[in-house]
Amino acid sequence: MDLDTVFSPNTVAVITGAAQGIGRAACLHAASRGASVCAVDLPGDRLDKTVEELIGISPRGEDAILSTPLDVSDPAQISQMRQTLLEQFGKVSFLFNNAVTRIGHGHGAEISEWRQAMDTNFWGCVYLVQAFLPAMKSTEDPSVIVNVGSKQGITNPPAHTIYNVTKSALKTYTEALEHEIRSEPESQISAHLLIPGWTSENEENVKKGAWRPDQVIDHMCAGLEKDLFYILCPDNEVSIEMDHKRIAWGAGDIIEGRPPLSRWHPDWKEKASKACT
Ligand SMILES: NC(=O)c1ccc[n+]([C@@H]2O[C@H](COP(=O)([O-])OP(=O)(O)OC[C@H]3O[C@@H](n4cnc5c(N)ncnc54)[C@H](O)[C@@H]3O)[C@@H](O)[C@H]2O)c1
Repeated sequence: MDLDTVFSPNTVAVITGAAQGIGRAACLHAASRGASVCAVDLPGDRLDKTVEELIGISPRGEDAILSTPLDVSDPAQISQMRQTLLEQFGKVSFLFNNAVTRIGHGHGAEISEWRQAMDTNFWGCVYLVQAFLPAMKSTEDPSVIVNVGSKQGITNPPAHTIYNVTKSALKTYTEALEHEIRSEPESQISAHLLIPGWTSENEENVKKGAWRPDQVIDHMCAGLEKDLFYILCPDNEVSIEMDHKRIAWGAGDIIEGRPPLSRWHPDWKEKASKACT
């Protein structure tokens, strides 16, 4: 893929979770290349500050930046945003479903926490895809959907059950979405799953072992240029090779008849640790 088709003055990026972290880095990347950016996050100072930064960095200034304070788990707010965005910018070239809540932990969490996590991390993505896919289909310009998953949605480490379930659902959904879009004749749309490693909240205060958010976005761009669907990121502690071994070990639980999450099972964790380093 030629990245100018999604990040240039003629393109429009919709980015959720825009106020900080990987979402903010994606906004800065798109805005610095002159794309129109719709920055979506919960209302508040963090979003306002990011929007100011984007206006400052964009060669097209405030004409190119749309601040969109909303809750992605509310389909009515998304529907309103869709109308405003299409009136102002006319199309969507890049949809980055990145907003996340990490509410709740194990299976015994309150049902309200389960619902909030699924509403934000999973349903929010579905609402946005359904809001913008028709506009993407109605143009001959290429469009790209990137849903942000997690290694935890693949390998399912203990103690983060709710988050893992939301990310596992998003992986399955995105795989099927890509298949359906690809199967449509002359489709100019592609879907991708970005799988970050451990990433710091900002560039200033980087945790030991973690990547900076802009490294994740650079890695995403390199993956998009290679037309990769799964864009798997390492970090400064976990290499891609280790990730591959961990993913293969998890799949091996089914094939080898081991218990689930055997990497953390007392009978298996030593073997797993040897196999995955
Ligand atoms: N940071 C990591 O180490 C890491 C690792 C793997 C995957 N990821 C994934 O990458 C993505 C970005 O992670 P991050 O750490 O940069 O995120 P973050 O926690 O720094 O920021 C998430 C943003 O989403 C916003 N948000 C939360 N609920 C929302 C809602 N209902 N509506 C609108 N906005 C909402 C928050 O306000 C926040 O600005 C997430 O999808 C996360 O699951 C991150």
